[in-house]
Amino acid sequence: MADTMALPMLPAVSRRAFLSLSLRSLAAWAIGTLLAPLRRAAAKSAPTPRFFRRVVTADNRASALIEWQTDALLDSPRFLWKEVGKKEEKEADVDVKYMALDGHNVLVYRAPLRGLAPGRDYQCRMLAAGRDAASFSFRTDDGKNLKALIFPDSQCDGSYDTWERVSGDASARNADAALWVNLGDLVDNGESFFHWEGWQTATDVSLGARAFAPVMGNHECYSLDWQYALPAAFLGLFATPPNGSAKYDRYYYSFDYGPVHFTVLNTQREELDSFLPGLFREQAAWLAHDLARTKQPWRVALLHRDLINYDAAPPSPDAFVRTLLPILEKSGVDAVLTAHAHAYRRRRMTAWRQDQNGVLYILSGNAGNCFYDVQRHAIDEIALPSDLLNYLTLEADENRLTFRCFLTNGIQKDFVTLRKAPSPEE
Ligand SMILES: [Fe+2]
Ligand SMILES: [Fe+2]
Repeated sequence: MADTMALPMLPAVSRRAFLSLSLRSLAAWAIGTLLAPLRRAAAKSAPTPRFFRRVVTADNRASALIEWQTDALLDSPRFLWKEVGKKEEKEADVDVKYMALDGHNVLVYRAPLRGLAPGRDYQCRMLAAGRDAASFSFRTDDGKNLKALIFPDSQCDGSYDTWERVSGDASARNADAALWVNLGDLVDNGESFFHWEGWQTATDVSLGARAFAPVMGNHECYSLDWQYALPAAFLGLFATPPNGSAKYDRYYYSFDYGPVHFTVLNTQREELDSFLPGLFREQAAWLAHDLARTKQPWRVALLHRDLINYDAAPPSPDAFVRTLLPILEKSGVDAVLTAHAHAYRRRRMTAWRQDQNGVLYILSGNAGNCFYDVQRHAIDEIALPSDLLNYLTLEADENRLTFRCFLTNGIQKDFVTLRKAPSPEE
């Protein structure tokens, strides 16, 4: 935004170029002087809509949620949409929420789209003051196959250039990925406008029209003075699907994409328990119910914290292992993806024992510029060095679920496939 931008440097010019520039400048000055009041009025009444994104809904075959932001209120925003190839245009209700973030005004607009058809292309246009102001196109989930990009912690100390490079490289190499997951610690400080602005600007380049599933991390629960805090900005920016809770809506949630049911769990007990008593008991009860009712071929849980606390010496199981793992295993979860440690680890286990028929656990690595020296735990089967930048892909059909770990140069460092039934060619 304007008050965070540096003034542009003026380029050096030759004498001839200077004279030409001067004549043009004179004309521009005359026109500019006459039009300046109008321009100021237009600029004041027409803030630029930014950061268009499609946040996941519970059923991405039939619905979509489009969000965008401004730093001042748009004049009469409207959102029109239609299926490509059809004439009839429909209008979605636009909800606007105001958020004061670190001294900056952030207005978040939401347009929920319902009654969509699976695997179809949609065109949308956003109007302000009766005029087209932006457009957005996307394709709904077909409910069959899925390719997703899974990103570990993207938090950066200072510039988000590293995150822009990792996510940009992953997106360019996987243009066919329909879903984008961030496994928490999107930003280094959850109340910092500078960090959200950096993360959103970098993400906006590559996210495009993919569905976006954010997972809350502990850094989303830090105040500007690094105390534990409610994740107001995270919840304000991303309207993830409701979970039915009267008190703790959207602190955890689930959604379907392709043949996968994704269950997103909150692991911020240390940061949130004193503010939100009962949240973690409630989540455990919801988890068993959520996994029991899904009919999807695959069940994948998305957690920010890993099962192992690598900060402990020696690394040891995190407290939530005792509460959530038995439910996940009993409910037939196939894979659990985690983050937080900024390192890549893989294991399969049952009841805290290595088991090649057990649940697959992948600690996803690092996509930001904060590196830690992470030890290996005895239960880790695969451990990559801690100084790498990486991301995962998830590919699923109704019989196979494959995870691959890539570095930013496209080199594959690990892969694993789970099978429901033997494939005909094998
Ligand atoms: Fe982190
Ligand atoms: Fe973390």
